[in-house]
Amino acid sequence: MATEKILVTSALPYANGPIHLGHLSGAYLPADIYVRYQRLKGSDIIFICGSDEHGVPITISADKEDIKPQQIIDRYHNINKEAFKQFGMSFDIYSRTSLPIHHETSKEFFLEFYNRGLLKEKKTNQFYDKKAKMFLPDRYVEGTCPNCGFEEARSDECENCGTLYDPSELKNPISKITGEAPVLKETSHWFFPLGDYQSRLEEYINYSSDKYGWKDNVIQYCKGWLKDGLKDRAITRDLDWGVPVPLKGAEGKVLYVWFEAVLGYISASKELSKLKGKDDLWREYWQGEKTKYIAFIGKDNVVFHCIIFPAMLMAWNDGEKEKYILPQNVPANEFLNFEGKKFSKSRNWGIDVIDFLKIFPADPLRYTLAANLPESRDTDFMWSEFQARNNNELADILGNFINRTFTFVQKHFDGKVPTRHELLPIDKEMIELVSGYPKKVSEFFESYKIRDGVLEIINLARAGNKYFNDSEPWKTIKTDKERCATTLNVSLQAIYTLGELLSPVVPFSSEKIFKMLNADLVKWFDSGKDNLKEGHQLNKPEILFTKIEDEVIAKQKESLAAEGAEVPKAVEELITYDDFMKTHLKIAEVIEAERVPKSEKLLKLKIKIGDEERQIIAGIAKHYSPEDIKGKKVVVVANLKPAKLMGLESQGMVLAVENEKGELQVLSVDNSVKSGVRVK
Ligand code: 2FM
Ligand code: ZN
Repeated sequence: MATEKILVTSALPYANGPIHLGHLSGAYLPADIYVRYQRLKGSDIIFICGSDEHGVPITISADKEDIKPQQIIDRYHNINKEAFKQFGMSFDIYSRTSLPIHHETSKEFFLEFYNRGLLKEKKTNQFYDKKAKMFLPDRYVEGTCPNCGFEEARSDECENCGTLYDPSELKNPISKITGEAPVLKETSHWFFPLGDYQSRLEEYINYSSDKYGWKDNVIQYCKGWLKDGLKDRAITRDLDWGVPVPLKGAEGKVLYVWFEAVLGYISASKELSKLKGKDDLWREYWQGEKTKYIAFIGKDNVVFHCIIFPAMLMAWNDGEKEKYILPQNVPANEFLNFEGKKFSKSRNWGIDVIDFLKIFPADPLRYTLAANLPESRDTDFMWSEFQARNNNELADILGNFINRTFTFVQKHFDGKVPTRHELLPIDKEMIELVSGYPKKVSEFFESYKIRDGVLEIINLARAGNKYFNDSEPWKTIKTDKERCATTLNVSLQAIYTLGELLSPVVPFSSEKIFKMLNADLVKWFDSGKDNLKEGHQLNKPEILFTKIEDEVIAKQKESLAAEGAEVPKAVEELITYDDFMKTHLKIAEVIEAERVPKSEKLLKLKIKIGDEERQIIAGIAKHYSPEDIKGKKVVVVANLKPAKLMGLESQGMVLAVENEKGELQVLSVDNSVKSGVRVK
């Protein structure tokens, strides 16, 4: 039987910030487990990823730091590449969309569509920020929804009621970049006729979801999009960072980042082929009819991978050139939250992968995330669960079973695999259980139920421990050495199987297990057999998992910053008294308070610090009415650089804390303290 060809991609993360644990759970760890499993099975597979290096947020980050976009992407491409490496991601390539090969691929697609007359050039009115001198992408304009009155609606879509509308219908628009009201300005763009593919997409999604068992959440997202009817979509933008539109007269325009990012998978595969010295290798995967293509993503990427990308490939395939395959499955995950709340860069909530791995090894993280993947609903990363999974499952169940067995064999059998003698029912049951495991786990992995597969593997370690306990080798070594030898032989074979099945999940520990076994992995489906010969010399055992103490976890919890606080360091960094005194915390009296029009969150406060009057825009309106806060003596950061919020200047910051229910409490003192007094 010819080996199956499989193409696996993981969403290309933006090189605009460090990846956090939520990213790992969405599109990376499940893909890596799947790919490592397939490799063990012997599948012919390539695993593609890289940085998504275009788009407006990157240009905004660069402007903020007064550096070039190239510097931003270089920084985060390197950080993320390193984080993935330390986490054990086994990509065949981690490429970048800023490479010439990607620009060429993207232009080739655009021109193919353009030359075939598929694209429509249309004039549109788009929000333009005169101060920032740029057209504003949808998510940088906020206003009131013309349908439901939601005040934080985007320029063409309301998150609250789901209505899509023309930007000109949005009420009271505000630029999120400068806080100014943007104007509508005419510009022209090329549109991809997505609507023309509606029925073929419906057919593709119905067929593939039926035949290949797409996940319900993915089908639901797709149906939601299809139900509304697909419309033409602009695939160019007015921007100077990205893949330039390859047409005369299109200066200052680039391809829309999502149009080219999905093509990044193809470009990266081409780069991989070049690196391997076989320029056309990528075609065997992308253009081989028998390849199955699996795209791992997070739920926010579904429309791009299940609708837009397939439509682009269909459009290409209608032409004369070599045809591409479409994704066979898109096992998108829901989100991982962090200690009950969404990961948020701006609110400093969560932990970046690179920081996490400075403190803990990768495998306990891989295992904890895998055991709790958001496959059908959002899940949470909790420090306490991380500790418990490490201590109770990895160290106590798995580590203990392996350690006990090895130590016993070292002590009583010279570190050699003991001979198997007469089998009792307890042994036969264990052998049978072990031998059925590769198939059992494989069924989960093949259907993208990675979490269930991983939990099932740990059940085998549980069964191993129980078998060891029930067989009481510490007794039989004295009373019946043959019995004891049989128990240990069966235990070691089970450890071999565990080592192999765990290899996709905790690869670093699996490698140690095989070093201890002094053996190599076999093909996945052979791993449940007896793979260790009697008399085979084992190596000395080493500790696989170290327990995590309560203090270490407590420290992590403490360093979780409250909303808006200093960026949390994974380990609390000490500062001097002088450092602290650089922050001028002062008592201020709130003398006036009113709501900021069009905002649910903001209050405009007039405060007095001693004799000095100032205006502070505080994000407390959901928790304090103007009447509640007026007259209070609060703590403010008096030497904070002024900032603009909704176009209003804020000259300082009011300190507040959040309670367990997520309600804000402003820090305040009673009237016996005079305004202007310094907090120290
Ligand atoms: O959501 C994201 O992080 C996007 N950069 C994913 C892109 S996936 C693919 F299109 F490249
Ligand atoms: Zn609405």
